[in-house]
Amino acid sequence: MIIAVDGPAASGKGTIAKALAAHYGLPCLDTGLLYRAVGLAVLKRGGDPDREADALAACDFDDAILAEPALRSEAVGSLASRVSVHPSVRAALVSRQRDFATQPGGAILDGRDIATVIAPDADAKLFVTASVAVRAQRRYSDAQAQGARPDMDSLIADIQARDTRDMSRDHAPLRVAEGADLLDTSDLTIDAAVRQAIALVDAQLDRHRKG
Ligand code: CDP
Ligand code: CDP
Repeated sequence: MIIAVDGPAASGKGTIAKALAAHYGLPCLDTGLLYRAVGLAVLKRGGDPDREADALAACDFDDAILAEPALRSEAVGSLASRVSVHPSVRAALVSRQRDFATQPGGAILDGRDIATVIAPDADAKLFVTASVAVRAQRRYSDAQAQGARPDMDSLIADIQARDTRDMSRDHAPLRVAEGADLLDTSDLTIDAAVRQAIALVDAQLDRHRKG
C-alpha cells in the first residue's frame, strides 16, 4: 500500500503524513528533506544553486547532513526549491524515493510530485493545502518556538516565491494529481486535519478495493 501526500510549504502535509504513518503502521519519507540536503550541500561547497552542474554534484551528499538543524530553515527551503528545478537533480533523487515507496508492506511519502511522478499508481493520494497567510503564520510560530523572531513580510514573500517556482517549473511541477483528494487545513486543528485525512484515505482505499 502506497499513500502519496503532496502540497505546498507549511500546508501541514508532513504532520499529516506522519500521523497517517502511525495510523496505518507504515514507514514515512519526507522527500523535501532530500532536496533540502542538496540545497544545503551546494551552499557548503560554495556552489551556485541555480547552476545545474553545481546542484547535481551536491546530490551525492553525506546522509549526516539530513540530521542538521539548519536543514529545516526557510532559507534552506528556498535553496531546495532552486536546486529542484534542475531535471538532473530530480532524476538523481528518483530511485531513492521509488525504492522507499515500493518496499514490502508499503509506505507513505510526502512532497510535491509523489502522486504525479514518484508513485502515480499510489493507492491513496492527498493534496494538502492552506492559505498563504495561515502557512506564513505557522512558519512564524515554528520559528518563534525556537527563539527566533522572523519578519512576517519576508516569510510571506518567501512562501509565495517558493509556491510560484514549485508550480511553474517545467519538470514535475506542484499540481493536484488525477484522483487526488484536496484537504484544505486553513481552518483545521491538527487533530481535525488528521481525522479528515484518515477518512479520505479510507474512502480511496475502499474505492480501490472495489475496483
Ligand atoms: O516543508 P516544506 O513544505 O516547506 O518544504 P519541503 O517539503 O521540505 O520541500 C522543500 C523544497 O523542495 C520545495 O519547495 C520544492 O521545491 C522541493 N521539493 C520537490 O521539488 N519535490 C519534492 N518531492 C519535495 C520537495
Ligand atoms: O510539511 P509541511 O511543510 O507542509 O507542514 P508541517 O511541517 O506539517 O506543518 C507546519 C506547521 O504547521 C507545524 O508547526 C504544524 O504543527 C502546524 N500545523 C497546524 O498548525 N495545523 C495543521 N492543521 C497542520 C499543521
